[in-house]
Amino acid sequence: MSDQINSSRRDFLKTGTTAALAAGLTTQLNSAVHAQGTDKLKVGLVGVGGRGSGAAVQALTADQHTELHAVADAFEDRLEAGLANMKATPVGDRVNVDADHKFVGFDAYKKVIESCDVVLLATPPHFRPMQLRAAVEAGKHVFVEKPVGVDGPGIRSVLETCKLAEEKGLSIVSGLCWRYHPGMRATFEQIHEGTAGEITALQCSYNSGGVWDPRATREECSSEMEYQMRNWYYYAWLSGDFNTEQHVHSLDKMAWAMLDETPKSVSGTGGRIQRTDPKYGNIYDHFNVVYEYESGVKAFARCRHFSGSTNDVSDHIFCTKGRVDVFKHRIYDWNGEIVWKYKGPSGNMYQIEHDEFFASIRDGKPINNGHYMSMSSMMAIAGRMSAYTGKQLSWEDCMNSTLDLSPESYEWGDIPTRPVSIPGQTQFS
Ligand SMILES: NC(=O)c1ccc[n+]([C@@H]2O[C@H](COP(=O)([O-])OP(=O)(O)OC[C@H]3O[C@@H](n4cnc5c(N)ncnc54)[C@H](O)[C@@H]3O)[C@@H](O)[C@H]2O)c1
Repeated sequence: MSDQINSSRRDFLKTGTTAALAAGLTTQLNSAVHAQGTDKLKVGLVGVGGRGSGAAVQALTADQHTELHAVADAFEDRLEAGLANMKATPVGDRVNVDADHKFVGFDAYKKVIESCDVVLLATPPHFRPMQLRAAVEAGKHVFVEKPVGVDGPGIRSVLETCKLAEEKGLSIVSGLCWRYHPGMRATFEQIHEGTAGEITALQCSYNSGGVWDPRATREECSSEMEYQMRNWYYYAWLSGDFNTEQHVHSLDKMAWAMLDETPKSVSGTGGRIQRTDPKYGNIYDHFNVVYEYESGVKAFARCRHFSGSTNDVSDHIFCTKGRVDVFKHRIYDWNGEIVWKYKGPSGNMYQIEHDEFFASIRDGKPINNGHYMSMSSMMAIAGRMSAYTGKQLSWEDCMNSTLDLSPESYEWGDIPTRPVSIPGQTQFS
């Protein structure tokens, strides 16, 4: 990555921020900020894939006075497939996207933001900082899928944008959906009330068989950019690697337990051992990361995409009086007796986050999940940077990282591929 690219993105972020903050003080609030109970809200979706389509249906379900009005995707086939899926749902009659409101390409999000009151961002994570910035500058409420960035400059940009959203009275609801899960909320309340005592250590695992295989071959794509975009999961610049894209859910629960205190240092290891074919881009298939807090408490985080191996997706918190099995919503004492368990409904966290999102817009009581969604995403990025370089890193190192994974330009052509990182050789920046 050339210095020119880095500096031009930095300049954009810097001037963008100054302008945005100034705008925040002077811009009249968009009328949708205080939408009345039955005013129709036009919802726009950016990234019409699996999660985006689900989020749009949940948005329409959350509030009867909404319609899906505009959509954007990098690819027309993905956009049409997503729309057809959404039309086939019980809220399909409010999927009212005419031909003039279907936008395709890298800049398509700008048109959606222009024409809607509420914006749902569900592209691959790379695009989140720039799209969130544009939506908030335009005065729109935003649902923001996780993770919210793939590198330090991206996370710093999101933090600034979320401050701007606060000044403008806009809601920012995060797709870190476990924070909206009733059983999880009750469990973390118990943790914070001290039912299990003081936290001494945390452990989270996201060991699974992996996700979808590349969706298109190089022969089927007209350019390397198209190949990488269609197979975004396998490229760190787009997904942040799988410890960021997926494991952020687990790390976010560790952060939640720690009342969102940030760790003081991170030390990680990882590599790729099953997914070595070049078709799998440049991401790893396993990570082991230790986060250390100021008090000496450590969080042990592991994630893995291996087929033919034992899966384990679980979170455990070890405390002075006992331990918490987070997914089971149970607290045990050190004799193995259950001292607390959740007995309420499980609920649909994906629906609840949209119910609360739209209620916040209607009531004029904005929700702003900006800080934790940024810090939990940064925890994941920090773990990746430590594993890629083989270095123990301080939190300050990570927050100030200048590594910018953006491509030189967003065009359908050749694009260089960063080599797979090698600890001890790949440099931290
Ligand atoms: N909260 C959760 O539990 C959860 C679950 C699944 C996915 N997600 C997150 O949602 C996001 C999307 O994941 P997905 O599984 O829906 O992926 P997907 O590939 O199904 O959908 C992403 C869509 O975005 C489009 N896209 C790519 N770049 C774009 C751009 N610049 N502008 C507009 N559209 C663009 C793609 O073509 C694709 O259609 C990811 O960040 C993922 O981590 C969250």
